[in-house]
Amino acid sequence: MTKSSEKLVLRRRPRRLRASEGIRRLIEEYVLSVNDLIAPIFCKEDGLREEISSMPGVFRHKPEDVCQFALQLHERGVSGIALFPCIPEGKKNSQGTAALDPNGLVPRVVREIKKRAPGLLVIADVALDPYTSHGHDGLYNPDTGEIENDATVRLLCEMARILGEAGVDFVAPSDMMDGRIGAIRASLDDANLERVGVLAYAAKFASAFYGPFRDAIGSRRGKGYLDKRTYQLSPTNLREGLLEAQLDEEEGADILMVKPAGPYLDVISKVRACTLLPLAAYQVSGEYAQIMAAARNGWLDLETAYRESLVAIKRAGADMVFTYFAPLFVGISD
Ligand code: PBG
Repeated sequence: MTKSSEKLVLRRRPRRLRASEGIRRLIEEYVLSVNDLIAPIFCKEDGLREEISSMPGVFRHKPEDVCQFALQLHERGVSGIALFPCIPEGKKNSQGTAALDPNGLVPRVVREIKKRAPGLLVIADVALDPYTSHGHDGLYNPDTGEIENDATVRLLCEMARILGEAGVDFVAPSDMMDGRIGAIRASLDDANLERVGVLAYAAKFASAFYGPFRDAIGSRRGKGYLDKRTYQLSPTNLREGLLEAQLDEEEGADILMVKPAGPYLDVISKVRACTLLPLAAYQVSGEYAQIMAAARNGWLDLETAYRESLVAIKRAGADMVFTYFAPLFVGISD
């Protein structure tokens, strides 16, 4: 029997390295920094800002307010923003033609931000879902029920060119059509837009965690869950995600992305090991909503929980993270 006062003879006492703030800081392996964060921002045509009910603390802003918000983020050190439009239902159609308007919401916002904060990196999604009446990322053929790959890619090339001409630094194809990275790269180059990079949503899974985002851009259709499984990856498949990443790299992507992030840390870590390209991860709306909802109920401590969720994504191997917590990280909260 050992008495409680009796000392154990231990050669190793790992707790010595956790005993004080100083030593804990010195042995830190991964540091979450503002340099790693990209803030997604939702924009709309006009009116007062609207809070997205399933994403407390996240708003849709009119163009003027998006610029203000972007400038504020930039001043506080956030390097990049990603723009997502909420298009009025009346402007949507089955072909998503509003995506090809050079004076559409996103191109206008991009031009304005670039005028006022040329150093802020602006990323814009390339996909049709904010613009289609059915909410799919591609052209939907009602006769066959299929999302048409090659016709969609042709539209996306045009959309990418328009965004490039408006001044984005990176286009981010999030549609998961086959061959779109190579086609978009070629179309940008043809238009003398070599400076515009391609950040590929390379391994994008058909995830239930996109739900709140679909509220934000108004692409949720009815109560049910919009099924994108003929183009987005199955959550069951890791190897297929690696293959998609490899193809996007071969086709000329500058940066690869895994999405969602938290439930796919294994994919992030494996893609990291397979490529020399920079790797992004998207902490999606549902990941934000989970943490936020629990925190609002007093079930989680917001600050420590969201930081833990982000450093986990870095630890898995991401160089940068798209996160709705970016404003909070730099002290903007309301
Ligand atoms: C669609 C797109 C989605 C997201 C980014 N771009 C949703 C989807 O595929 O339905 C999700 C982002 C999030 O949930 O935060 N092209």
